[in-house]
Amino acid sequence: MSANLSTLQELPTDLDRSRLPQQVAVIMDGNGRWAKSRGIPRIMGHRRGVDTLKDLLRCCRDWGIPALTAYAFSTENWGRPEEEVEFLMTLFERVLRRERAEMMRENVQIRFVGNLKVLPQSLQDEIAQSLHETRDNRGTQFIVATNYGGRQDIMQACRAIADEVKQGLYSTDEIDEKLFERHLYTAGITHPDLLIRTSGEMRLSNFLLWQLAYAEIYVTQTLWPDFDREAFHQALRAYQQRDRRFGKVEGESSG
Ligand code: FPP
Repeated sequence: MSANLSTLQELPTDLDRSRLPQQVAVIMDGNGRWAKSRGIPRIMGHRRGVDTLKDLLRCCRDWGIPALTAYAFSTENWGRPEEEVEFLMTLFERVLRRERAEMMRENVQIRFVGNLKVLPQSLQDEIAQSLHETRDNRGTQFIVATNYGGRQDIMQACRAIADEVKQGLYSTDEIDEKLFERHLYTAGITHPDLLIRTSGEMRLSNFLLWQLAYAEIYVTQTLWPDFDREAFHQALRAYQQRDRRFGKVEGESSG
């Protein structure tokens, strides 16, 4: 099953180019365990996790997958030890600054979803700069969920809609799925077709609750820092073997 990395620069021949997911979402789990198994600090696992994410983003570009969403920090992650939270905030900031030129070269457009207002100001500044610089890029769309929670996303959309109803912009009868989606953090972004979670946990962990309604879920035992192109290849193979019916019966399938 092991494949030479150079052969994986291009889409593996056993994958059908016309049936690739248009957006892949990843829950990057197992950084801590990866580090622990090597007897090194957890933060080294997060550092290594950034390299994995960078290669996956590049792989999406190489193989023709238009969008990737990564769960970088959940609303629950504030409960981690203070030093780890601080490390992660500094890591995000440093990575954004360091990778901006590369994102421009590779035509990546970055987006952020989540409540960004409570992040450290210096991180908010880097986020704003990255959004600004990459806004016209039309290559891979890279969506980073930072201080994101699916319930919180739905709640903030409800509040915004209630407010607009109160202002008389529309009536409650006019609230439909399309209007609701325009108020989610992910407004304008297609829903993920495939969710990958590494390190074996079978949970959504409050990620994109609305948006993942019909996503195919793929869970692998591989720890995030070890999730390489071959592992992604296997996830896509599994995805292409699924029969996506979107709640319909056989024969009516649309994807
Ligand atoms: C989960 O592993 C991982 C995280 C909470 C952080 C993931 C963040 C990155 C890889 C950096 C991304 C950077 C940017 C700029 C997008 P864990 O600590 O829960 O692992 P464990 O379950 O083994 O303890």
